[in-house]
Amino acid sequence: QRPLIALGIETSCDDTCAAIVTSDRRILSEVLRTQHHLHEPMGGIVPKLAHHAHMRNLPEVVREAINKANLGERGIQEIDLVAVTRGPGLAHCLGVGLNAAKTLAAALNRPLVGVHHMEAHALTARLTTRDPKFKYDTQQGESSDLELLGPDPYPSFPFLTLLVSGGHTLLLITHSVDRYTTLASTVDDSIGEAFDKTARELDIPWLPGRAGGPGASLEEFAKGSKCPDRYLDQLPIPMSLRMNKREMKFSFAGLKSAVTRIVNQEKKSSPVAMMDEEKRKDLAAGFQHCAITHLCQKVEQALADCHKNGLQISSLVISGGVGRNATLRSKMEQICQKYDYAASSPVKESKVKKGFSGEATAVPLNSPSLSVDTMKPRQTIQVICPPPKLCTDNAVMIAWTGLERYQLGLVDPYDIDIVPKWPL
Ligand code: KG4
Ligand code: ZN
Repeated sequence: QRPLIALGIETSCDDTCAAIVTSDRRILSEVLRTQHHLHEPMGGIVPKLAHHAHMRNLPEVVREAINKANLGERGIQEIDLVAVTRGPGLAHCLGVGLNAAKTLAAALNRPLVGVHHMEAHALTARLTTRDPKFKYDTQQGESSDLELLGPDPYPSFPFLTLLVSGGHTLLLITHSVDRYTTLASTVDDSIGEAFDKTARELDIPWLPGRAGGPGASLEEFAKGSKCPDRYLDQLPIPMSLRMNKREMKFSFAGLKSAVTRIVNQEKKSSPVAMMDEEKRKDLAAGFQHCAITHLCQKVEQALADCHKNGLQISSLVISGGVGRNATLRSKMEQICQKYDYAASSPVKESKVKKGFSGEATAVPLNSPSLSVDTMKPRQTIQVICPPPKLCTDNAVMIAWTGLERYQLGLVDPYDIDIVPKWPL
């Protein structure tokens, strides 16, 4: 039996996307038509413009995806299912993709899978990540990418997903396909917006040719800081544990306002009405420190809570544009290492107890049931960052999620509607 082939369509925001993906984790084609040039001069996404652009572009995008996939003699008949973003997103934009997908599925007499956009972001890592335990046969000569990935999707359930981009700031537990717990989302700006606005506030030069936009420029700029602590006493760590706020929420508006306040103060006190570069670098570093610490505190709290409830998390998936940030990644790795313990060192009962406070160092995840003298397997929470291209909105993740859902029998009738507001 050959692997399944899915066509995925995504039109929830400002990118028109189609892709063809197989159940054995191969991306046969992906096409994305961006609308940045339409929305940028307007200072933000204009739903009506986005809707018209999707209507104009989607047929060509789908045709290109089918042609590029080289499906063979039977062409489009090889497609086993059609997956499409049903929500959340801009209502009219979602409608364009959903109607196209429904019509294609009905015409081909194939199942339709309506996909939750955030579920797709959460499951992307299972398409692209290699199981570290999988041994491939090097004797067979050159291994293909597919052999390197291994036959089974990885990471295994349950895992944590931290989605940090221009559009989303979300921390969730992925228990299995179709079963999620949203632990935290933002009450105001997304973290990407906070990086972008701060970069603008600090007049940080854009780095041409470098991916990642203003956030990446800010990260680079902050590296030049000689005194990263200079403004720390004036910058809040949002929802900080230090302030005894244990709520699982993200917030960046207050931090952003604090940056503006400092800039204004500095401008007032400077004769040239401009902050010098050295101070701007220090402020960029301070902002970055606080924003990342905020994320880290919530992830650390989530890991401790999962641990406390006996939920053995396999991995932390960091997805979205801000996941490119090297400081963020390395801090998250440090946190996850606290949940790593060596096979040869039995863990004492006292140490286990300490672990439940969320503060301790080496703690076995399934500690309560283990006897102290047993040799324990190595337990690691792995930090996984899918390739940046697949962290932004794309149809590959929709096709893959369609495949995961279809294989569990989760298909939808041809008369489903869009769900613009759709909690996970
Ligand atoms: O996921 P993404 O590429 O696209 C959308 O959200 O549409 O995320 C873009 C966001 C932007 O706000 C950008 O400034 C930010 O990710 N970003 C970064 C870095 N690279 C990209 N933020 C912090 N550090 C970075 N290295
Ligand atoms: Zn998205």
